[in-house]
Parts: sequence; structure tokens; C-alpha cells
Amino acid sequence: MGIYETILARRTIRKFKQEKIDDSILKKLLNAARHAPSAANIQPIKYIIVNDEEKVNEVFKHVKWAAYIAPHGTPSENEKPVAFIIILIDTEIKRSDYELDVGAAAQNIFLAAWEEGIGTCWMGAVNRDAVRKALNIDNRYIINTVIALGYMAEAPVVEDENGSIKYYKDEKGVLHVPKRKLDDIILKL
Ligand SMILES: Cc1cc2nc3c(=O)[nH]c(=O)nc-3n(C[C@H](O)[C@H](O)[C@H](O)COP(=O)(O)O)c2cc1C
Repeated sequence: MGIYETILARRTIRKFKQEKIDDSILKKLLNAARHAPSAANIQPIKYIIVNDEEKVNEVFKHVKWAAYIAPHGTPSENEKPVAFIIILIDTEIKRSDYELDVGAAAQNIFLAAWEEGIGTCWMGAVNRDAVRKALNIDNRYIINTVIALGYMAEAPVVEDENGSIKYYKDEKGVLHVPKRKLDDIILKL
């Protein structure tokens, strides 16, 4: 699959096979992240890999899934992510204006993961204080984002939006993700 096809195919995944991801693959994803663009090439992002079962379960308690369809987007016990990547900002390197760097790095992780058959979910709804405590993360680091990972156990579909951008599940439980139409996002001046 070429990059363009991977970009179009990638979907947020919220059901995962209970199969461990090799450490080498998780490291490969962070190597992809490290090669992302960074403003002034300052690279303020640091990462934590969480793949110890006990710690994964602990982080799982502090994230929220698929607000539009809650609780139907929350993975059940046998569909939980098998790893998390925590994206941190090292405040000794930078204290503000790092969000765009995070977006670029996260997308590199998502696309590299997809190529490996690994699904990801960007977890913005995180109880950061609880995650900090659970993983004993030093105050030097801002907890920006949490990414859930695991081999995919669902196949969401993308479609052009037709009156609503809210994702939904159909009668078969398949997740549909409406995207704004190409003609609607290109402004004609
Ligand atoms: C900044 C950001 C925060 C997000 N936070 C959450 C979240 O807390 N929980 C969740 O289930 N999905 C979260 N998502 C995933 C979005 O719901 C998902 O990207 C969107 O529905 C589009 O689906 P797609 O990624 O398959 O294109 C987040 C996405 C982004 C970009």
C-alpha cells in the first residue's frame, strides 16, 4: 500500500485483538514519530511505551472512548488495547507551542502502525493526573496525548458526510466515519 492509500485506509480503531505487539514494532513506531517535522527542529516530545498488562489496565481506567456513541465505542474486556504510547512534552526543552509537533508525530505513529496491521486510537479524553500518578511520571513532563494500540479487531468504514459529521454504528455494529466532502472544504475565492 502506498502512503496515499494508507492515509485513506487508516481509521481510528477501538476493538483490538488480544495479541502482544513486539517491542521492536513499538520502537519502530517511535522511530517514525521521531522523524516527523518539528517547529525549528526543537523536538520537545518524549514518549513512554506502556505494554505491561497491569499498567495497560491501569491507563485504560483513565481514558474515555467514542463520546458520540458512548458506551458503545468502549472496548469490552476481550477487545482492550494491548499497549499505550504516552506523548509527553519535555518542559526543559519547550513549554508552549508544541501542539503542532504532536499532531505530526502522532500521525506518523498512526500511519506506520496501520502498515503493520496495528490499529490506534488517539485518546484526548484522559485523566492526566491519574495517569501521571499511576505511571509515576515526573512533573517535568506535560502529558499531552495517549495513543491506544493493538492489532485491529474491527473494520470501520469512511463515507462522505450527509448532514452530520458524527460517527455512528450501523445495525451490524460497524462504525461509520463521515468526512466532509472534498468540494465543501476547498474554498473558492
Ligand atoms: C485530538 C484528538 C483527540 C481524540 N480523542 C479521542 C478520545 O478521547 N476518545 C476516542 O475514542 N477517540 C478520540 N479521538 C478519535 C476521533 O474520534 C477520530 O479521529 C474521529 O472520529 C475520526 O475518525 P478517524 O480517525 O477514523 O478518521 C480523538 C482524535 C483527535 C484528533
